[in-house]
Amino acid sequence: MSISTICCIGAGYVGGPTMSVIAQKNPSIKVIVVDMNQARIDAWNSEDLDKLPIFEPGLDAVVAEARGRNLFFSTDVEGAIHEADMIFISVNTPTKTYGAGKGMAADLQYVELCARQIAKIATSDKIVVEKSTLPVKTAEAIKDILENTGTGVNFEILSNPEFLAEGTAVQDLEAPDRVLIGGDQTESGLKAIEALVNIYATWVPKNQIITTNLWSSELSKLTANAFLAQRVSSINALTELCESTGANIDDVAKAIGTDSRIGPKFLKASVGFGGSCFQKDILNLVYICKSLGLDEAANYWEQVIIMNNHQRSRFAQQIVTSLYGTVAGKKIGFLGWAFKKDTNDTRESAAIYIADKLIEEQAHIQVYDPKVTAVQMHSDLNGLNSRTETENSQFLDIHNNPYTALEGAHALAVITEWDEFKTYDWQKIYDGMLKPAFIFDGRNILDQAALETIGFTYKAIGR
Ligand code: UDX
Ligand code: UDX
Repeated sequence: MSISTICCIGAGYVGGPTMSVIAQKNPSIKVIVVDMNQARIDAWNSEDLDKLPIFEPGLDAVVAEARGRNLFFSTDVEGAIHEADMIFISVNTPTKTYGAGKGMAADLQYVELCARQIAKIATSDKIVVEKSTLPVKTAEAIKDILENTGTGVNFEILSNPEFLAEGTAVQDLEAPDRVLIGGDQTESGLKAIEALVNIYATWVPKNQIITTNLWSSELSKLTANAFLAQRVSSINALTELCESTGANIDDVAKAIGTDSRIGPKFLKASVGFGGSCFQKDILNLVYICKSLGLDEAANYWEQVIIMNNHQRSRFAQQIVTSLYGTVAGKKIGFLGWAFKKDTNDTRESAAIYIADKLIEEQAHIQVYDPKVTAVQMHSDLNGLNSRTETENSQFLDIHNNPYTALEGAHALAVITEWDEFKTYDWQKIYDGMLKPAFIFDGRNILDQAALETIGFTYKAIGR
């Protein structure tokens, strides 16, 4: 079975880059990315490649090559569904904020709406691919909706979880460790799997394309993120101990990471992990375990989140304690707001929670981030509903220059590991700050010895 047209519903951080690379590598396949958000689609179509709705290194070149040739962005969801032989569902699946499973279960309303829309419109056989991260057995629900349309159209459901990390999305898509495709182990299911394998095989070696059944594929996605997040929480769980014993967390990480069974990656101590996936996926895993009565397994994974929350509040508390127990009326500069470097995404960023806690203590936060907009930062803080928007705006100042953001500050906190922070004129920053000038390096990226020579009081995580 060969595919001539692909449609992807959801032009976000996952759908946009993934479809761009699929289109780039498969010039003979027409790829239509649709989204109900007109502004987002307009941004994907903008002439000026700096105005793409998401920032990802290398993405502009891929879009420039494929857009208009075989890659299209549109709000005509129905037309694209009608035309496509293969439909990716890449809409967001946030944590539920209401009803049963509130704060834990995935909110699947958008995925279900997509399935219903496909069921309504399709007049020819389709392969439907789950790209959104979903709880185990969601494919069954999608299947149920699609198989009961009574139109005689056949649907095959595949699970093709995304493993790209933001900031390195294009690189991860072009050279993935593996591609995972789950589907029914029936004759037609296997054919659908093969159709998707062939699309990836145009650039990914076949032995790196793993095929399995639907449930294993869905569970593997949750598990991969749970394991990665667990490594971050595990290393962060040792930072306090390092601080009180004189051990150095970076040295410990290096020492254990050279054990090939442990490996060096994802052992960087931090203010805590953020992003749209880690917390949501673990909460999902916890919720599924709880629903099945597997309390010990649920508690085991929940601890990864508890540790992460602790790390964020501990960092904020350390700032307050170091500044003589009070930050009321003090200015605290933030370098970075994004949840990691090289992205403008701020979902679940530690910055939001740390700012909230410091504002609770009546500190004034002055932020500089190279890629995040002021509108986004205000909306992130307001989203916590801790106080009114007017109150928040009195405590949050956003700057488009790091030097002005740190002018007159009592302390500065490094929240994101943007490379440019290392290149600043730190003498100039020191001269502009109140003394004693404190640096709280939440990413351990700055040169401690050089900063201490200038006169800063430097505190890193886990040292
Ligand atoms: C993705 C995955 O889908 C999610 O499950 C995973 O955990 C993280 O990555 P992401 O691409 O980051 O989500 O989400 P987002 O950037 O919010 O994009 C989703 C897009 O879908 C939005 O542009 C939204 O407008 C669109 N959408 C949503 C629709 O077009 N229709 C809908 O019904 C719902
Ligand atoms: C993650 C997964 O890596 C990816 O495979 C999946 O598809 C989506 O979720 P992402 O959330 O984009 O990707 O970023 P990731 O690089 O995994 O970082 C997540 C968070 O952990 C960031 O806040 C990052 O700063 C933090 N982190 C990561 C650490 O604090 N220390 C580390 O050593 C690594």
